[in-house]
Amino acid sequence: MLESMSASEDQLELRQLTPIEIPQALELSKEAHWNQVSDDWKFMITEGKAFGFFTHEDNLVASALALPFQGTFGWISMVLVTSIWRRKGLATRLLQRGIEILEADEKTPILDATDAGRKVYLSLGFNDLYLISRLERSVIKTAKTLPTDLPPSIAIRQIDESDLTLLAAWDEQFFGADRSILLSNLLHRNPHLAFLAEDTSKSLLGFAMGRIGRDATQIGPVVSSDPVIAIHLIQTALRQCKEAVFIDVPNHHEETHKWLSKIGFSCQRNFMRMGKSITDPIDQPGAIFAIAGPELG
Ligand SMILES: CC(C)(COP(=O)(O)OP(=O)(O)OC[C@H]1O[C@@H](n2cnc3c(N)ncnc32)[C@H](O)[C@@H]1OP(=O)(O)O)[C@@H](O)C(=O)NCCC(=O)NCCS
Repeated sequence: MLESMSASEDQLELRQLTPIEIPQALELSKEAHWNQVSDDWKFMITEGKAFGFFTHEDNLVASALALPFQGTFGWISMVLVTSIWRRKGLATRLLQRGIEILEADEKTPILDATDAGRKVYLSLGFNDLYLISRLERSVIKTAKTLPTDLPPSIAIRQIDESDLTLLAAWDEQFFGADRSILLSNLLHRNPHLAFLAEDTSKSLLGFAMGRIGRDATQIGPVVSSDPVIAIHLIQTALRQCKEAVFIDVPNHHEETHKWLSKIGFSCQRNFMRMGKSITDPIDQPGAIFAIAGPELG
């Protein structure tokens, strides 16, 4: 292992990614059949610290990034190694770099791992927190009745720019950190997928956002303290989607899973939410009905 690592290091340079490298980064995520588009990479490279291994010919062969949030934790994501460079320790090196960046800032590293990634992260001190399923709908089924009607005192409407400050503060109590930069990015990119639920006194009860991806529209985050409201928010966002849809729903939300399966969603893969050196979730899992995506938290 160490020999092959030093052989790799002779041939590769580890350096920061800049927006110039977005086309190469996009090729790496495409190779893994991931859903990111240029705008996703642009956001993550600009707001996070992204880095990668390059050959002497300047070809990007592996990537990772650390996305700090305003709070006690940060996300590690986009850990990708092109197939011919795998099993040489590159992902391990990239993870170590991401951990160093976040821990230097006193933030706990968190990530959502694929099965392949989880094996690497376990050996680096990450523990399982909870399981998330990627549900996929490729065929649009006719709308089924919702499990329960919303009380007339609750209304769902589109999110406006002027809602963002309040919405980000409300979200923080459930997500565990201020992610207003991400919420603002999602709203600006796809305002047609952003909805909130409020009562007659305009108190926030939940919200849903989404983004257009390479293979499918991703719905998430969806946050609410009430499962019925969460399902209505998802349904409202789904009405905007004519193509394939992904939604990453924590497995403990059984009712939401059942309803999504009734309207044509099936499980494509799992992600394990993991945290370094912690055993309890950093968020309120009961209120997170869909994550923003494994790369975003
Ligand atoms: C997962 C991935 C990033 C691993 O990259 P890598 O550079 O090959 O990983 P490393 O060489 O650092 O692996 C370290 C150790 O993890 C384990 N490991 C890595 N990939 C594994 C796999 N697919 N199956 C079993 N064990 C694996 C091994 O113990 C390995 O050590 P070894 O090579 O001495 O056996 C790479 O396979 C990949 O890009 N996969 C597709 C995208 C993906 O799933 N990314 C993870 C997102 S969370």
